Amino acid sequence: MKKVTTLLAVSALLVLVGCGKSNEYTPPADASGEAIFSAACTQCHTPVSQDVAMVLSEGVANKEAIIAKVQSGSMRMPSFTNIQGEAADRLADYVLSHSGSQ
Ligand code: HEC
Repeated sequence: MKKVTTLLAVSALLVLVGCGKSNEYTPPADASGEAIFSAACTQCHTPVSQDVAMVLSEGVANKEAIIAKVQSGSMRMPSFTNIQGEAADRLADYVLSHSGSQ
């Protein structure tokens, strides 16, 4: 019984640190989309080439979906609640214009 409790505690901790958390990154007011991408995204999304920052699946290949993804995250991607307004717009423009499709 004690083992099970410890195991539960450890996995709860892993979930807390690991996934679905929000990222506090706040872009500087004048940051370009590219600057935001390299500061906040490349740790997970390694650019494919200089022209292709990300390969987007069809459903996400539009600005609204990219912004929604960034702000809401997912089980495996943190949510960036401080990327808002014009910064989110510039970031989505950059990702979209530097995306390959599948
Ligand atoms: C901690 C790692 C991590 C960081 C940091 C991260 N992402 Fe993600 N992202 C993921 C993972 C994992 C997926 C795939 C799973 C999913 O769709 O949720 C993903 C998926 C996406 C998708 C959907 C791609 C598709 O084709 O379905 C977009 C768009 C995206 N990320 C944009 C961004 C942007 C823009 C940033 C920077 C603000 C960013 N991500 C930062 C891990 C990350």
